[in-house]
Amino acid sequence: MEIRVQKVAQSRIGEIDFDNIPFGRKFSDHMFVCDYEDGAWKDARIVPFDYFPIHPASMSLHYGQTIFEGMKATKGKDGQPLFFRPEQHAIRINASAYRMCMPAFPEDLFLKALHQLVDMDQAWIPPQEGSALYLRPYMFATDEFIGVKPSSKYRFIVFTCPVGPYYPKPISLLADTHYIRAAHGGTGEAKAGGNYGGSLLPARLANEQGYDQIMWLDAKEFKYVQEVGTMNIFFVMNGKVVTPSTDGTILRGITRDSILTILKDAGYEVEERPVEITEVVEAYQKGELDEIFGSGTAAVVAYISKLKYLDTVMEMPEPSACKVANFVKQTINGIRSKTVEDKFNWIVPVGNALAR
Ligand code: COI
Repeated sequence: MEIRVQKVAQSRIGEIDFDNIPFGRKFSDHMFVCDYEDGAWKDARIVPFDYFPIHPASMSLHYGQTIFEGMKATKGKDGQPLFFRPEQHAIRINASAYRMCMPAFPEDLFLKALHQLVDMDQAWIPPQEGSALYLRPYMFATDEFIGVKPSSKYRFIVFTCPVGPYYPKPISLLADTHYIRAAHGGTGEAKAGGNYGGSLLPARLANEQGYDQIMWLDAKEFKYVQEVGTMNIFFVMNGKVVTPSTDGTILRGITRDSILTILKDAGYEVEERPVEITEVVEAYQKGELDEIFGSGTAAVVAYISKLKYLDTVMEMPEPSACKVANFVKQTINGIRSKTVEDKFNWIVPVGNALAR
């Protein structure tokens, strides 16, 4: 499908201070939009970033048929704009669409749209290491109906924003023993809006106790670690790097997968398996809990300064002492800026799909 293009009359890029960008509040000039109606995706277009009208009965506003992705474009040291594993996001958004009973978005159109959009707005990619152009592909139901059924109309959008680090400082976590994020058979693996909506009250209650974020435990026994409000989670215990396995309740993080690949390749002992919270506490008490870090597209690698579970507060080392977190963070950021070899072929130069 051809993508029709309408360019802005005047770029807003002069308004951006690239040395001082808040996460997710500044938006680039253009966005990609495509609508689904009568069983087909139609009218793919790149238009100026702007408000659009929405019907009050629009189904996504009522029953939560809304899914999203988060991805990043960076510039290599040679100035070349790059994506990191874009095809994985095309696959994952369609897995989320399946779970939320929404139509798949064609993978080739997803990739073509990203390439064309970021090619046009490449001046918005911040040059600073650790900063990036964050891409937010998302899909939501637009049928004007308030009966509970899958919508027959959808809108798919990609907009982009220049961002600095999501967590500029180490964060503290509270393991929640009351609220849950996802049970087996639920929507935990989908990147669905409601999963994040449900995390807000527990996160606010954690903030009131002085913690930055929630760490989720399983919904049945509050025994196994799942993930953090905005990220997957890793523990360095007893010489091994351990992360909860993807069991249908946690997000299949693309950064998580990249970290596992990088660590295995570098010879680390890595385990993906159910992780009991008491095992983490015991490792801490024995002096064997070396690091905890979170991973996600927005966060990349986030240092955890402290974790509380019931009465135990586990104080973690300063970032400079977190060898594993620093290694994976530098490797991912290095691959993204082409200062570290891209052994795994994760980098895709922006514009490649345009040549097809
Ligand atoms: C991302 O890491 O890109 C995410 O989607 C998390 C988001 C809720 C900030």
